[in-house]
Amino acid sequence: MSNRESTPKFPESYIGDKAVEYDNSTWMERNQKKTTLLCLQYLRDDKLDNLGNYNVLDGNRYIIVDLGCGSGFSSEILVDSGHRVIGIDILIDMLSKAKTKKKISENKKNLELILADINYLPLRSASINHIISISAYNFIIYGTETIRDKFKAVNNTAMYLKKVLKRKGRIIIEFYPKEDNELELFTSSFNNNGFDGFMIKKNPAQKAGQTYLLLKKR
Ligand SMILES: C[S@@+](CC[C@H](N)C(=O)[O-])C[C@H]1O[C@@H](n2cnc3c(N)ncnc32)[C@H](O)[C@@H]1O
Repeated sequence: MSNRESTPKFPESYIGDKAVEYDNSTWMERNQKKTTLLCLQYLRDDKLDNLGNYNVLDGNRYIIVDLGCGSGFSSEILVDSGHRVIGIDILIDMLSKAKTKKKISENKKNLELILADINYLPLRSASINHIISISAYNFIIYGTETIRDKFKAVNNTAMYLKKVLKRKGRIIIEFYPKEDNELELFTSSFNNNGFDGFMIKKNPAQKAGQTYLLLKKR
């Protein structure tokens, strides 16, 4: 999610006054919610059904993890669409905003909010139907310096995501890789760790920038 004025930076764009500004922005709320609705459509994408082992999704109520749930715009849409949601975020300044909104939500029993790192998720094996992540996944390599460390972080996380998903589990990620190499790093981490999938971009010629990954467990 590119802010209208500048590209957001982790963690400074999501701490203190910046977290308040984020949560109060109606533009941001609209943008995050619209993207979440699109991700819910992508979850049932025909091309994804036909990829690898052909399968279509059963039912329409799932346990969905929202990775990097921030102040809760995306989780709210997932819950309002009938799903049980586990929202995970590493920053208390953002997660506390989601917690405040949860208190007054009619669907609060369907939302669990956990302070945790996407790279070290406190989730049981085969306990989750699907995973969605909006404008957060590119930050999982924050703090890594060498290519080797980045490679290790993205691959360990992809491996773990496969483990926590049930059979027919899918992942839809909207994120902002900085350049071709970074995009390749993320896509190969899923290809190498048990996922089939493909990406969608508004402008296919452009490698960096807003990208959707549509993935399903092999
Ligand atoms: C653009 S914001 C959240 C967007 C969210 N979809 C929403 O609706 O508000 C990105 C979030 O990713 C979180 N994040 C970044 N790295 C993370 C990590 N390693 N583990 C968990 N959350 C992370 C940040 O704390 C931030 O709240």
